[in-house]
Amino acid sequence: MSIPVLKFDAVIVGAGGAGLRSAIQLSEAGLKTAVLSKVFPTRSHTVAAQGGVAASLGNSEEDHWTWHMYDTVKGSDWLGDQDAIEFMCKKANEVVVELEHYGMPFDRTDDGKIYQRPFGGHMSNFGEKPVRRSCAAADRTGHAMLHAMYQRNVKANTQFFVEWMALDLIRDEEGHVLGVTAMEMETGQVVIFHSRATIFATGGAGRIFYSSTNAFINTGDGLGMAARAGIPLEDMEFWQFHPTGVAGAGVLITEGVRGEGGILRNSSKERFMERYAPNAKDLASRDVVSRAMATEIKEGRGCGVNKDYVLLDITHLDPATIMKRLPGIHEIGLQFAGVDCLKEPLPVVPTCHYQMGGIPTHYSGRVVMPQGGDMNAVVPGFYAGGECACASVHGANRLGTNSLLDLLVFGKSAGDSAVEDLKAGRAHRALPKDAAEKSLARISAIDNRKGGANVHETRLAMQRTMQDHAGVFRFGDMLKQGVEKILEVEKAARELEIKDKSMAWNTARTEALEMENLIEVAKATMMSAEARKESRGAHVRDDAPDTAEFPNGRNDKEWLKHTLFSPVDNSISYKPVNMQPLTVEPVALKTRSY
Ligand code: FUM
Repeated sequence: MSIPVLKFDAVIVGAGGAGLRSAIQLSEAGLKTAVLSKVFPTRSHTVAAQGGVAASLGNSEEDHWTWHMYDTVKGSDWLGDQDAIEFMCKKANEVVVELEHYGMPFDRTDDGKIYQRPFGGHMSNFGEKPVRRSCAAADRTGHAMLHAMYQRNVKANTQFFVEWMALDLIRDEEGHVLGVTAMEMETGQVVIFHSRATIFATGGAGRIFYSSTNAFINTGDGLGMAARAGIPLEDMEFWQFHPTGVAGAGVLITEGVRGEGGILRNSSKERFMERYAPNAKDLASRDVVSRAMATEIKEGRGCGVNKDYVLLDITHLDPATIMKRLPGIHEIGLQFAGVDCLKEPLPVVPTCHYQMGGIPTHYSGRVVMPQGGDMNAVVPGFYAGGECACASVHGANRLGTNSLLDLLVFGKSAGDSAVEDLKAGRAHRALPKDAAEKSLARISAIDNRKGGANVHETRLAMQRTMQDHAGVFRFGDMLKQGVEKILEVEKAARELEIKDKSMAWNTARTEALEMENLIEVAKATMMSAEARKESRGAHVRDDAPDTAEFPNGRNDKEWLKHTLFSPVDNSISYKPVNMQPLTVEPVALKTRSY
């Protein structure tokens, strides 16, 4: 079958913050740039980011990028690469001011500067006290950001392919990336996008869990494509549970609520975070707050008939401030919990929010993998940024508002690196004859299989397995069982069947293709988590010894290293964490052991 080929200088998969930011660099450099997205760009999952973007602008009080770097290294539980963290924190002011110049409608201080609010784990003077570092547009920062960057792209003539799903990465025999195959969702037509540079900005895969703040489109498509193309996935055991998802619905209630003075309470109305983190209290980092909430619920101090949630109380705050700074969460409370948060506290539970791991990248945005003894050999023609990538700045746990910063900084640097490589002469390489065959075979198998597995049931089995076996708290035996179960689910996911065979808008086919991506992520997560025999950041195991030598179960002697999960043979290898050049020395954290 002859497959249409569209030729571009650069193809970007994903039109969230990272994709749009990298597209600006390429299009403004005069390169012919395509952006593929399953949804209209301003509906990408970045739209759900509420509380802000971190930058040490110091608009309300003194701040400095080294303090931001210190907090980020500490938040990462020392698993973050310190060269990448330094790069990100130094670049933060530049990318936020650029965004302002693109027209981003930030809230303002009385003297007209960008408004900044405190956020969990962001402190002044190397951990002294909370600092206002999160630059916010009310509680709709991601929404405002997408609009500003989409319009900038329209001005720069970026070509958008809306409602297109990328299917597979095209690599040649020498390992160069030459573009992607993609399916137009409206017609089912498969096309080859042949490019000199390919950038993945496909976002996260939070839909591997049962309860998630993530949009339904967050199915790990970039990770699935990378995995099928033989590229290992880094640090996939680390998933962040956001403390405040609406109980029962999972929808995000921004940490900005606690930044503005909101308080978490248990069934006795106690402000329980005072016991767990006496200094930072409700603004302790997310893993600390999520585990404290889970502990309150586990020990019977949860609220409601089933004692299965806690309360987020803002009834003591000035209603005018809430309606000015947090209008979105007032609406979410009414829509998803039936609660008017001006009058009553909101019911909240920790909910899967963010993947710290992903496609291994250098902070230049170039994708790297082990090759011929080099653990970080560049994959030519391939770049990634945002949540699908692992730069790695978040290490074992991300600080709130560092995700919007990540996608701006690394979206931009992926774009810059692609421009640099293309201007240095990187040409279109010849497509392999079978460039589209893998994708066509996947579609044909799904369409023609008889007696295969049901997509919905398989996805549910995966989500339940992940939630029960790799959630907020992890247990050695549960992880072992989790590996067995997820390998069983994988068998089903490789044998999916759909009843609807039509071409136009076949959502059954799209969901089956997404499931093939989700399972790659779920398997990498479970196997990497089972293998890491310590507690670090968001990965907390009951069987990690908590001793004087390894306080809180973190074992820097053996485990201060990145995991690389190879989907080809389900094997795991490790590579060192980069602690240079401005080393923040590891110290034990006080707040994990409960
Ligand atoms: O709580 C929030 O507004 C989420 C921010 C983030 O994940 O960075």
